[in-house]
Amino acid sequence: MTDKISHCSFCAKNKDSVEKLIVGHDVAICNECVNLCDTLLSDNKLNKKNSEIKIPDPRDVRDYLNQFIVGQNDAKKVLAVAITNHYKRINNPKNKIAKSNILMIGPTGTGKTLMAKTVAEYLDVPFVIADATTLTEAGYVGDDVDTVISRLYQNSDCDVERTQRGIIFLDEIDKIARKSESSTVSRDVSGEGVQQALLKLVEGTKIKVSPFGSRKNEATIEIDTSNILFVAGGAFVGMEEIIKNRIQGTSMGFNAHLTNNEEINQSNITSNDLVKYGMIPEFVGRFSSSVCLHSLSKDQLISILTKIKYNFVDQYKWLFDQDGVKLEFEEESLGLIAELSLKNKTGARGLHAELERILLPHMFDLPRYRKQSILKVAITKNLVNTPVTLVSENE
Ligand SMILES: Nc1ncnc2c1ncn2[C@@H]1O[C@H](COP(=O)(O)OP(=O)(O)OP(=O)(O)O)[C@@H](O)[C@H]1O
Ligand SMILES: [Mg+2]
Repeated sequence: MTDKISHCSFCAKNKDSVEKLIVGHDVAICNECVNLCDTLLSDNKLNKKNSEIKIPDPRDVRDYLNQFIVGQNDAKKVLAVAITNHYKRINNPKNKIAKSNILMIGPTGTGKTLMAKTVAEYLDVPFVIADATTLTEAGYVGDDVDTVISRLYQNSDCDVERTQRGIIFLDEIDKIARKSESSTVSRDVSGEGVQQALLKLVEGTKIKVSPFGSRKNEATIEIDTSNILFVAGGAFVGMEEIIKNRIQGTSMGFNAHLTNNEEINQSNITSNDLVKYGMIPEFVGRFSSSVCLHSLSKDQLISILTKIKYNFVDQYKWLFDQDGVKLEFEEESLGLIAELSLKNKTGARGLHAELERILLPHMFDLPRYRKQSILKVAITKNLVNTPVTLVSENE
């Protein structure tokens, strides 16, 4: 047993010269030091609350995106500028510039979600992906739209200020388009109700969230959504037809060549097209920055496989390396994997699926490879249809 401590371990004052000395196992703190610590901690909180998000330079945002996202150069620029303007606006609340949310249109697997996520990482703001197809109007079975705010709040470590500056990515937004005669795509009739419900959030409203999930009868916290940035993403399959019809309609068919059957061109898409597609005009009005992403070329897909930061090939090499096995890809096999994705029209999503398919049998047996003296797995160009070549230690 140590002698009873009679001095504050922090300021060394004797217990007789302070009001109270709290003594622990082999440490003590006086009431004055406790007060000082309290002030220090609440100062920190204050600073955190008042801290504004540094307004980014659009070029820096673009350069950051370039590390992780291949191609989509126009989209990167539009997004970088929209993000910069958004944070300029919320850092100057007296300025009444209207919020401009962002709409991302582009085929599956081209980087819509990845781009929004990467921007949130860059800004160090909380981020949530909400699948619009799982959202329902309040009172219906499913996640009502308010749960999205609740999730953002959880992702910001329950910090109200941070939540109110976060980004919500509304994925599959095209799937909540209302039924429209002018399109061939069949849709959920309740989509319009979900759009209406989302409209309130996007416009800016106060949502009550429970600090500890969904327990009832407990204090709630109010989140103001007016500065939350909403990024909506969707493939808008069938949109080319609407654009084509509009252009043909207004120019008696002479300008039909202006649209490309495969791609939606950003300069061609109008708010009216989105309304024709089934988005309600008020909703479209809240998303005034629109970004179009394009299908990825074979070379771009290969870059996604091998060049960008945290590329798929490096990721799998690392996984194999954990078991002491080297993973190699022949140049031609990478091209083949890219071609498969192109054929399936699954974008970069397809690359992941192909790699999983090809590598899964090996990953299943990896822990045994070393014992069998298999130190290297080489993915040859025949990988797609035939088993891959195994190189043993003796070869
Ligand atoms: N342009 C790109 N650059 C680098 N990686 C990409 C790119 N596009 C897609 N990927 C890769 O493919 C995966 C799927 O992309 P993402 O989720 O961004 O697609 P999406 O456009 O949102 O598609 P969907 O419409 O199906 O939701 C990403 O996790 C990423 O690994
Ligand atoms: Mg997505």
